[in-house]
Order: sequence, then structure tokens, then C-alpha cells
Amino acid sequence: MEPELALPDSLGNTSIVGLQWGDEGKGKIVDLLTAQFDFAIRWNGGSNAGHSVKVGDKKYAFHLIPSGILHPRCTSVLANGVVIDPVQLLQEMDQLVSQGIAVENNLRISSQAHVVMPYHKLQDQLSEQRLGDNKLGTTARGIGPCYSDKAGRSMAIRMADLLDETRLSDKLQRVVAEKNHLFKGLYGAPPLEWVPMFEQYRGYGQLLKPYVCHTSALLHQAMDDNKRLLFEGANAVLLDLDHGTFPFVTSSNCGTGLSAGTGVPARAVQTVLGVVKAYCSRVGSGPFPTEQDNAVGERIRTRGHEFGTTTGRPRRCGYLDLVALRYATRICGVTGLCIMLLDVLSTFDILRVCTGYKINGQITNEFPPDAYELQQAQPVYQDLPGWHETLDDVRTLADLPGNARTYLDTIAAYVQVPIRIVSVGPARHQTLICPVR
Ligand code: GDP
Ligand code: IMO
Ligand code: MG
Repeated sequence: MEPELALPDSLGNTSIVGLQWGDEGKGKIVDLLTAQFDFAIRWNGGSNAGHSVKVGDKKYAFHLIPSGILHPRCTSVLANGVVIDPVQLLQEMDQLVSQGIAVENNLRISSQAHVVMPYHKLQDQLSEQRLGDNKLGTTARGIGPCYSDKAGRSMAIRMADLLDETRLSDKLQRVVAEKNHLFKGLYGAPPLEWVPMFEQYRGYGQLLKPYVCHTSALLHQAMDDNKRLLFEGANAVLLDLDHGTFPFVTSSNCGTGLSAGTGVPARAVQTVLGVVKAYCSRVGSGPFPTEQDNAVGERIRTRGHEFGTTTGRPRRCGYLDLVALRYATRICGVTGLCIMLLDVLSTFDILRVCTGYKINGQITNEFPPDAYELQQAQPVYQDLPGWHETLDDVRTLADLPGNARTYLDTIAAYVQVPIRIVSVGPARHQTLICPVR
């Protein structure tokens, strides 16, 4: 195993959030820090997330289980705000066990978490097909339909329902009938049968029963016992249902919903680490002011292996957007930045960073959280000198090329948040810890 990384000071309870459109490298940061924590907690999203962790020559891809599961003394929690697809979860658990990672004693699942059912995944796909050119570009994991049913209440199924046969059969009989009206009437799709679904999901409930508990009570007890909590955000601020580039967002408050998603009050979190790529990427539809749909974007995609962990889709790539980044750090109260994939930017002569938007002839540094307004934004760039040296073997800030340090300083100065970690490769040891100033 590679050595674990320790920050020089204690972080207190810590939240890790993605500051762009996802895939910033949250999995790597969670894995690095988990050694210092007793609990790793997922609190939003579902298997739309794909968090990769590289340990030595092994690669792990997590969709539901917190990346902290790799550390045996840490308890991993799927809290109430997560939407859980039992098929995906059981598959992930089996895969971990086959890789020698124990899950039986250190995984807990909220009885209040909502369940992603087969009709949610089908509804996601049918809805996207029907939208055609207006599609959102979802991951087709049933996330939107499941959260819609949660908000609608009458058709929702929670983990607790999976454990109770009578509740599950009553609910499924009614809900599947309703969904079949929708599938037939709106999409012309064949009906689903509730009985086989009941049998299958009752079985999943029994398999997951040993892990299911009242997770907010568990976390409050942990805090009473002075245990340390690490919260693993999924998705990212610019995909936040309220504060992202609506409607091209996901269906949870991925920048702001930690308290609702766990039952842990915001004041219990001392440190918020914002994870950000040294450039920008986005999967799916929606505005992306600094996108480079050209040779520059292609070069970033190739150098950064920018293909989705969840869907394998090529990610759209572009220059770093400081306007969006400043907005994101403010929305979720970031206390420190983790700048990821800096190594990908080696070999560029000039690196552009976006420092303003021109919208209707006016220059602004305020990010408009609305896709239609953002679509009008013309980026205003500052050009910074690039560097040609590879960063793969750099281990201290002092060893970075001068232009790479200037690039980092420009980011910290613009967003007025200190940089705590710089990552120059996927491996644990390819990480630079920054002194606290
Ligand atoms: P997440 O969803 O935020 O956890 O990010 P993903 O795992 O979806 O995507 C990040 C990708 O970048 C993964 O394949 C990581 O192994 C990789 N990665 C993380 N940090 C670095 C880095 O500093 N340099 C390079 N080249 N790759 C990195
Ligand atoms: P991680 O945690 C990148 C994007 C999808 C789509 C939009 C809505 O790996 O950073 P959804 O299936 O959630 O309804 O899709 O949100 N999206 C992500 N993009 N990384 C993610 O998670 C994402 N989670 C959702 O691509 O554009
Ligand atoms: Mg990802």
C-alpha cells in the first residue's frame, strides 16, 4: 500500500465538495484524508457519481459507497440524502469483497434514504429520449425521477420500506400501476409487472438489512464521542439543483445540502475543502463559457483522460473559469482549495483563465446561476505563461516550475481562498501539501 497523507494541522469535521461540474478528483482527496477520520459519509446524489481512487497499481471506481471504505478503521455511511440503487450498491459491495476490502463491519445505510427503482431508471431514459435535442444529458441512473418521487411523497420508497414486506407490496402494487399509466400514456412503453419487482427488491432488502440503521443518530453519537467526520460530496456546485446552471443540473443540492442530507447541523463542520480541476470539464448538456471545442480541448481531454467514470462519455474540456470558481467557493463556504490535475496542463505555451464575463455588453464577475443567461456570457481571459516540464515527479511546491506557481497564485488571489493541496497525478504520493499561511 502507498503511504497515507497527513495534513500538518487537524482539520476538524470536514466536508469535501466539487466546485465545478463534477469529476474534479473528490475521490482522490477523500481517500487521502480518510486515514485521519472515523467516518466517511455520502450525503447526496446516487450512482450518477463516479469517484476514482488509485492506490499503487490498483484502481477503484465508487458510485455509491464512500471512497473512505478503503480504510478499514473508518465507518462508511450512506446517509438519508443519498438515493440508493440496490442493484448498483450490492454489485459495488461484491466487487470490493472480491478485491479483499471488507465491508461487513464498516458500512451503514440510512433507513430514510430513498430507493432508486427500475421504473426510475426507465423513466430517466424515456424522458431523455422524448426530449430529443432538449435533453439534459443525464447519466440515466434514475436520479431525477427518484428525487421527484421523494419530493412528491406519495410514490416514494425508502430503505425502511424494503425491509418490511407488507409495506413494500402495498406500495409497489400502487406505484407500479401509476407508473404504467405514465409509461403507456406518455411514452407508449409496455407495462411493468409489480410482483417480480416485489420479489427481487424484497430480496435486496434482506441482503442490505444488516447495514440499515438510523444514520443521523449514529452520527450524533459519533460526535458526542469526539469522533471525526469526513463528508464526501458527490456531483458539484455548478450542478446544484438551486445554485447550479439550472435546468442543466442534477436533482440534489450537491453544493449546499449537507445538513438536510445527514441530519448533522452545518455548524458541526469546521473545514470545507473545495476540489477543483486546474481547468474545466463538463459531461452532459448545458452552458460552459470557457469550453474549447477545438484542438485545445482535445489536448486537455487526451492528457487528462477525460472520459466519464460512470458513463464513459467524453468530457467537454476548456480553460479554468475563475468567475464560476469564485461563485462556487462562496456558495459553499470553502475554507481551502484542492487544485487537481495540474500535471495535465504541462506543455501549453499559454494558459488562459477566465476572469470576467461580458453579458449584453457589460463586464461582470458575478456568475449567473441560470443556463439561459450564462449562455450569453462571453469569457474575458487573462493569459498566463505555461510550462513544459512534466510534473509527475514533483513532490513539493518549491519544485514546481515558476509559471505553475504563478498559475496557482493567480487562482488563490482571484477567489480569495488559500490552496491546501495540489495534485499532480492520480496516485496518493503525487500530492503536494501547502503550508497554512
Ligand atoms: P470525482 O468524481 O470528483 O471523484 O473525480 P473522478 O474520479 O470522476 O475523475 C477524476 C479523474 O482524475 C480520476 O480518473 C482520477 O484518478 C484522476 N486524477 C485525480 N487527480 C489527478 C491528478 O492530479 N492528475 C491526473 N492526471 N489525474 C488525476
Ligand atoms: P461526480 O460525483 C459529472 C451530470 C450529468 C448530467 C447532469 C444530470 O462523479 O463528480 P443526473 O444523472 O444527475 O440527472 O444528470 O449532471 N452529473 C455529473 N457529471 N460528475 C458527476 O458526479 C455527475 N453527476 C451528475 O452528466 O449533465
Ligand atoms: Mg466523477
